[in-house]
Amino acid sequence: MTHTGEQKIQWAQQYMPVLNAIRERFEKEKPLTGHRIGMALHVEAKTACLVRTLAAGGAEVYITGCNPLSTQDDVADALREGGIACYAQRGCNTEEYYAAIDKVLDAHPTLTIDDGMDLINRVHLDRRDALPGIVGACEETTTGIHRLRAMEADGKLEFPVIAVNDTPMKHYFDNVHGTGESALASIMLTTNVLLAGRHVVVAGYGYCGRGVATKARALGARVIVTEIDPRRALQAHFDGFDVMCMEEAAKVGDLFITTTGNCSIITGRHFPLMKSGAILSNAGHFNNEIEIPWLAEHASAVEHRDGIDTYVIDGKKIHLLAEGRLVNLATPKGMGHPIEVMDLSFAVQALSVEYVAKHGRELAAGVHDVPTEIDEYIARLKLAAVGATLDALTAEQEEYMCSWNHGT
Ligand SMILES: NC(=O)c1ccc[n+]([C@@H]2O[C@H](COP(=O)([O-])OP(=O)(O)OC[C@H]3O[C@@H](n4cnc5c(N)ncnc54)[C@H](O)[C@@H]3O)[C@@H](O)[C@H]2O)c1
Repeated sequence: MTHTGEQKIQWAQQYMPVLNAIRERFEKEKPLTGHRIGMALHVEAKTACLVRTLAAGGAEVYITGCNPLSTQDDVADALREGGIACYAQRGCNTEEYYAAIDKVLDAHPTLTIDDGMDLINRVHLDRRDALPGIVGACEETTTGIHRLRAMEADGKLEFPVIAVNDTPMKHYFDNVHGTGESALASIMLTTNVLLAGRHVVVAGYGYCGRGVATKARALGARVIVTEIDPRRALQAHFDGFDVMCMEEAAKVGDLFITTTGNCSIITGRHFPLMKSGAILSNAGHFNNEIEIPWLAEHASAVEHRDGIDTYVIDGKKIHLLAEGRLVNLATPKGMGHPIEVMDLSFAVQALSVEYVAKHGRELAAGVHDVPTEIDEYIARLKLAAVGATLDALTAEQEEYMCSWNHGT
């Protein structure tokens, strides 16, 4: 009988044509031979497909989680049974979380892959013994890139890192469609409530927020957006959403989803304004968008259900999903982004890792873009996989687009 983790991995693999094509080439060319890859990512089925692709390329792979609640233990077991060093465990505490990152660093990786930058942070601050061997790294998410750019600005980043998140083939699809669909799916599976007719408040109208807002509206929700950036707020307005500050939105919202990557978005100023039964969730990287310590301090009682903590405050019930952690991954039923989306994101990861393996020593310490050729190549592979055909520029068009003397 096949292990449930192995079944999940095989299920995902069948819908990952782009990563599979890369894996076939890696098996033949072995571009990662001699490299040890240290990873801190959400350990679930799609990630396992990336791990196996990198191993097929000749690398030794060491992996742990990048969030205490996002690991799927059966998938972690399946990776271990397949000979991968995997230290991730669902529900670990902070000490165990960093101890597992340390185990990855004990292998002295030559390349690293992060989602949120906890591993790179650890190696620069506490595990400098592992620093000299690292040729370069890749970072998966917006929050990790923010932290890396801050580190670079302070002159503290000591090796090159490819900003996988920032390339179109990642954030146009992963952040928008991936977070949009999976956050809502996870909320619906956890709460069993109807979105149609509900006031859904989406905090932040960036890539993730736009995905969540658009897909919630498609399900019949009445969506309100909160923002701090006037251009993004106006974009939300022209996209047909109500825009208001959180203090106003707190009074009308039935379901709240934070997607800002910033801290203290829903706080003690807002909870007392909310209706009883309000549901709070976060899809941003860290669990600091909702002020959970305030809830804990002011609640007269807390009830725990699977994936839901209910805080009773002045007789009102405020429900918090997944302890304020990434709702699409951290609820017991959260499966993370849809497979097809991760096919693209992890194809970018695999080819960026190959690029760093080849060119890392020539790159300066700092944050680097994914080369455009990699991005376009992945888009072409995916278009071929879905059977779409593309036009090509004619010589006349190419000349026209590059000239300045064709006027009226
Ligand atoms: N859940 C997932 O699986 C998943 C996937 C991708 C990214 N992320 C994470 O989601 C977060 C957002 O990513 P993104 O790519 O959408 O970033 P983004 O920068 O495109 O969007 C963030 C938006 O939040 C707004 N914002 C900042 N502070 C705010 C505040 N106080 N109130 C209201 N709005 C505020 C910003 O103006 C911006 O428009 C990051 O933490 C990222 O790492 C999560």
